[in-house]
Amino acid sequence: MKKLLDVISGEMQAAFEAAGYGEAEASSQLGRITLSNRPDLCEYQCNGAMAGAKKFRKAPIMIANEVAGKLQGSRFFSQVEAVAPGFLNLKISEEFLKKYLQEMSAAEKYGLDMPAKPQKIIIDYGGANVAKPLHVGHLRSAVIGESIKRICRYAGHEVIGDVHLGDWGLQMGLIIIGVKERHPELVYFDESYEGEYPAEAPFTISELEEIYPASSARSKEDPEYKAQAMEATYKLQTGVRGYRALWRHMMNVSVADLRKNYSSLNVEFDLWKGESDVQDLIPEMVQYMKDSGYAYISEGALVVDVKEDTDTKEMPPCMILKSDGASLYNTTDLATIMERMRLYHPDQMIYLTDKRQELYFQQVFRCARKTGLVGPETELKWIGFGTVNGKDGKPFKTRDGGVMRLETLIRDTKEEMFKKIKEGREMSDEEAKTVADMVAVSALLYGDLSNQASKDYIFDVDRFTSFEGDTGPYILYTIVRIKSILAKYVEQGGSLAEKEGLELQAAASDAQKQLMMQLAGFNAMMESACEETAPHKVCAFIYDLANAFNHFYHETRILAEEDEKQKKSLIALLILTRDVLETCIDVLGFKAPEKM
Ligand code: ARG
Repeated sequence: MKKLLDVISGEMQAAFEAAGYGEAEASSQLGRITLSNRPDLCEYQCNGAMAGAKKFRKAPIMIANEVAGKLQGSRFFSQVEAVAPGFLNLKISEEFLKKYLQEMSAAEKYGLDMPAKPQKIIIDYGGANVAKPLHVGHLRSAVIGESIKRICRYAGHEVIGDVHLGDWGLQMGLIIIGVKERHPELVYFDESYEGEYPAEAPFTISELEEIYPASSARSKEDPEYKAQAMEATYKLQTGVRGYRALWRHMMNVSVADLRKNYSSLNVEFDLWKGESDVQDLIPEMVQYMKDSGYAYISEGALVVDVKEDTDTKEMPPCMILKSDGASLYNTTDLATIMERMRLYHPDQMIYLTDKRQELYFQQVFRCARKTGLVGPETELKWIGFGTVNGKDGKPFKTRDGGVMRLETLIRDTKEEMFKKIKEGREMSDEEAKTVADMVAVSALLYGDLSNQASKDYIFDVDRFTSFEGDTGPYILYTIVRIKSILAKYVEQGGSLAEKEGLELQAAASDAQKQLMMQLAGFNAMMESACEETAPHKVCAFIYDLANAFNHFYHETRILAEEDEKQKKSLIALLILTRDVLETCIDVLGFKAPEKM
């Protein structure tokens, strides 16, 4: 379905042409209509007469007047006004708006057109490291990645989400020697053992999560200890049986815990692959890079130059192997790219990490292109997100200055939400808890997603969990309000079934018209949120929509409306508003309760 702004811009363009401003190619954009930046004066505006003035050597107001003249009686506009120095101030016709919304209600996906050629997109997000607890820094990667996945899927693309676990590096060695120190008697460390290894893991997730930080801290002070960890990593990577068996336990225990944490944020991955999955591809890839002459030895290490003539800042070569022959983070990412090309041949690969990995991804992408691992038909995109800060503007920490675990953050938000839900509501603890959990997720997700990804933001539990303002709970509150009006309508004998003549009528008030215009922007918004991988656009849209709805609600008698046809029209509008809001929160990754 054509976007509303395109429809009316087309009409405007025709008016420019009819007024004699059509022939020049520069005029093709003259009819472009935008939302008004003076909503007190008009709903939409067109600045084409200003833009055309120079070209046609005419005062803009004269052009504007002529164009306005051509639009008198247009079925698209109820008002077209040329104002000094040459703007066209527009109001849309209520009748046209009504028809547009009727068509939108009946259309697949509320009029969002599906792409002629759907893309296959891989999103690499989450990025958890095995046996390391998720911390607040992991929130953004998971939440933004999940939303982009859902938005692109909704927009008709095939999207595969991969968590890309950090499961192969030094942290594995650190854990192995940590376990060994605590339980040297375990059979995994007996290198002469040839039997089956126990099916049960020798540790729980809490033990694992305790071992890693302790081991990691110690390795920083104790070079001997670090050397042991490196050796253990090497043994694991070269396939020593006991180490592999122990590693598999770590994977199982850790992945089960990660699944639990991610699913509490409604984050779901299609693939649970990790760095370890592509290790077998590395020798082949390295050989290829050497044979084709891209990789060469520099100071003992194997590198690929990725500098380009136009670079203004330093661009170090991409290191493929260290001088001791060990592979690196880069190596694994390149091998993963190679595997993804072979298995999926995607049109796009999108990565989400924090902003500090920018240079790293530039190097990796350039290397992948230069060496031909990725052809020009595949787009590589990196999205760097900003930091989650505390109210002091510094990275968010626990009260005693430690790293904030994601689990704790989620728990605290749920508790805060529970308190707010209990305040002034008659609800059993059990019901309040279910509702609070749902609303808390909206608070966290919306609090994050409503910011442009690249910006830092301040994590403020009080603000995020508030029922007022630009927050998740406010959006849910609005949806629940609509649901409860609809429920009352049914209680009073109304029916919401489609065949019940719930037909939208032309707006009967300004507030209703504002709401209808906001709804009509859905397809354009979703299209650009997908193209620009920008969940914050969905947030901005539903915040405006919720405001428009609440304003309408306060101005309008809905259930008390006496004219039956008008009442049904209002109910139809409520249904559409609810459905559009619920579609939007679904792509953001959360849901609304029935009551709150
Ligand atoms: N595990 C990494 C980290 O904690 C993030 C992985 C991001 N994805 C990637 N393909 N490199 O920094």
